[in-house]
Amino acid sequence: MKKENLSIVIIGCGGFIGGHLLDAILGQRDWRVVGWDLRDDKVKDHLCNDKFAFRKLDYSRELNHSHLSDDIGGSDLVINLAAICNPSQYNTAPLQVIRSNFIEAYHLIDVCAAHRKWLIHFSTSEVYGRTLSSYVSPGTYSSPDHYELREDETPLIMGPIAAQRWTYACAKQLLERYIMAHHYENDLGFTIVRPLNFFGPRMDFIPGVDGEGVPRVLACFMEALMKEKPLKLVDGGHARRTILAIEDAIAGILAIIERPQAARGQVFNLGNPDNEVSMAELARRMRKIFADITGRPISSLPEIIEVPSRDFYGPGYEDCDRRMPNIGKAAQLLNWAPRINLDDALHRTIAYYWKHYGALVS
Ligand code: UGA
Repeated sequence: MKKENLSIVIIGCGGFIGGHLLDAILGQRDWRVVGWDLRDDKVKDHLCNDKFAFRKLDYSRELNHSHLSDDIGGSDLVINLAAICNPSQYNTAPLQVIRSNFIEAYHLIDVCAAHRKWLIHFSTSEVYGRTLSSYVSPGTYSSPDHYELREDETPLIMGPIAAQRWTYACAKQLLERYIMAHHYENDLGFTIVRPLNFFGPRMDFIPGVDGEGVPRVLACFMEALMKEKPLKLVDGGHARRTILAIEDAIAGILAIIERPQAARGQVFNLGNPDNEVSMAELARRMRKIFADITGRPISSLPEIIEVPSRDFYGPGYEDCDRRMPNIGKAAQLLNWAPRINLDDALHRTIAYYWKHYGALVS
């Protein structure tokens, strides 16, 4: 595929990843984008760009209409970012989660297959499920083979049906299998990305300011720090995540687009194994960096408390204790590696939140 003058359709361009991807594509490449989303607040800077056409529409209501089909038919590739991906909804709105992440999405895959377009689909690291590491005590990890998540080898382990947390992971896994089935039967060109906790400016929302409900952990801790409420550690804050700076994530996505031969037919983890942190340690680090940025004494900042997951998320929530990606495949095939360490990623993100929301919440 040509690298110049690409024409790309992005479904779900108005979210956190889509907004940053648009900044990079429209700012650094000579590509055209048709973007679909219900929201435009994170893409406002691009609405007047003549390389960008914005459809403020719900793609799932347009699947039988020619508009979406025409856009896809006229493109070189389709990037699908549309999803409900907030854990607080997995156990409180499970039907909506399954509809958004499978039922609506599979029609889109059909349209891409019908037009024989390359689809770069954003799945989730949650397809690994509870992970093998949940079943053994931490002291027994002796080799990365016991805990590293490898795209083409690691089993995907879901919890019981009553634990609604797994609606999301299950729907996402089935969609990956649907894409693979289209590849097998209809020669659909695809790349699946499994993101592992991208952090950066414009992620999620601050409740009561630009959204309602419970956002993901970064915005929860930022809300607490800015509104001077306790930072809550769910079930003791033992869960571990690897944090990837959004700038590194975008470099990985551009590497996929620019290396179609290497990227097609592959599943990639995009994460940063060097930035692994427990949620308890994340809270401590964010508190310290927030003190540095605001000039407030750390002793004046809100305390860190523990809450049971049942009280925080409601019944049916379960967690994956450790998600450690193997990123060897992305390194080898895409020549990609993350560069931004955890404190730098947190510093630039927290500085953005303070500048953007500080005056609005205090
Ligand atoms: C979520 C999505 O489900 C994934 O699809 C997505 O890939 C991932 O975010 C991501 O950002 O990449 P998760 O990591 O569980 O997965 O999302 P968070 O809501 O950010 O939770 C991370 C951990 O922090 C969990 O253990 C959660 O219980 C904990 N948490 C959350 C707290 O301890 N305190 C809070 O205030 C909020």
